[in-house]
Amino acid sequence: MLPAKVKIVEVGPRDGLQNEKQNIKPEVKIQLIEKLLAAGVQHIEAGSFVSPKWVPQMAGSAEVFEGLRQYPQVFRALTPNLQGFEQAIAAGAKEVAIFAAASESFSQKNINCSISESLKRFEPLMAQARQLGIEVRGYVSCVVQCPYEGFIQPHAVADVTQALYEMGCYEISLGDTIGAATPLNFSHMLATVAREVPMQQLAVHCHDTYGMALANIYAALQMGISTVDSSVAGLGGCPYAKGASGNVASEDVVYMLNGMQIHTGIDLNKLMDAGNFISQQLQRPNSSKTAQALKAS
Ligand code: HMG
Ligand code: MG
Repeated sequence: MLPAKVKIVEVGPRDGLQNEKQNIKPEVKIQLIEKLLAAGVQHIEAGSFVSPKWVPQMAGSAEVFEGLRQYPQVFRALTPNLQGFEQAIAAGAKEVAIFAAASESFSQKNINCSISESLKRFEPLMAQARQLGIEVRGYVSCVVQCPYEGFIQPHAVADVTQALYEMGCYEISLGDTIGAATPLNFSHMLATVAREVPMQQLAVHCHDTYGMALANIYAALQMGISTVDSSVAGLGGCPYAKGASGNVASEDVVYMLNGMQIHTGIDLNKLMDAGNFISQQLQRPNSSKTAQALKAS
């Protein structure tokens, strides 16, 4: 049974741009976000407050959030620790996301600590968020494959997801970080996780390295998922997951959902304007198949 509507979480301005080598000015990121808003996108991860030594591209996130203060929408920020949380809130972020992994090696490479250390590190952040009434989303990376360890057991994913849920995350996004999952192992993982955390509290975050993202999302929708992360123009990748390509393109997800009469509230043509804008800024073709097809038609 497919959902009647799907919440799209646009991660392009953060996940999409974090890996870019060329310097993208905060004004350009703000313009991109304004175009996404014009397309009806309601949930936008606008930047991250991580160490600038680790991810230089996100160093301008405070300016991006400052530039968005006039909008009533709730912009999200990715934060790895209390320091990042405090910076995000000072800059005007209204919601944050913490990120853990189901793979020990990836956790070390991405945030320089073990899985259990990361969960400990999130505790003061969660306490502060509770005090300020800030909602916190969680991410789990490497839910099927890890670039360093290979296949990840579904129960390892379920354990971390449950820990984030019990800690107070209102939603946990399951990341196929290197886009290597296929529908059967992806849905098996999802079924295992859903035994510990209700499906309504889960989201899927599919990178499209092997072109499997839409197939995995479709499998997830059939199982009761109704929140999907995506990245306009298919931008992105994780700097600590070599070879991982961008998230599934938002345009392709919206095209698929439109075709199934599933409501998103997003105008596909205006979304393509946003995707074409950022692709031009980056001087590269838009990697959304839908944007390519509709441009050619
Ligand atoms: P560390 O070096 O272990 O941190 O890094 P530390 O606490 O020892 O501090 C070292 C220095 O970093 C200090 O500065 C701190 O002030 C500074 P110094 O005294 O040397 O000048 N520092 C910070 N600066 C700014 N903002 C902060 C911050 N925290 C400490 N928040 C740390 C640990 C977590 C900070 C680092 O590993 C880091 O920033 N990692 C982020 C990596 C990242 O952003 N990866 C990409 C996002 S995750 C992703 O893309 C996956 C996802 O999309 C889902 C999926 O696809 O699977 C979410
Ligand atoms: Mg990601």
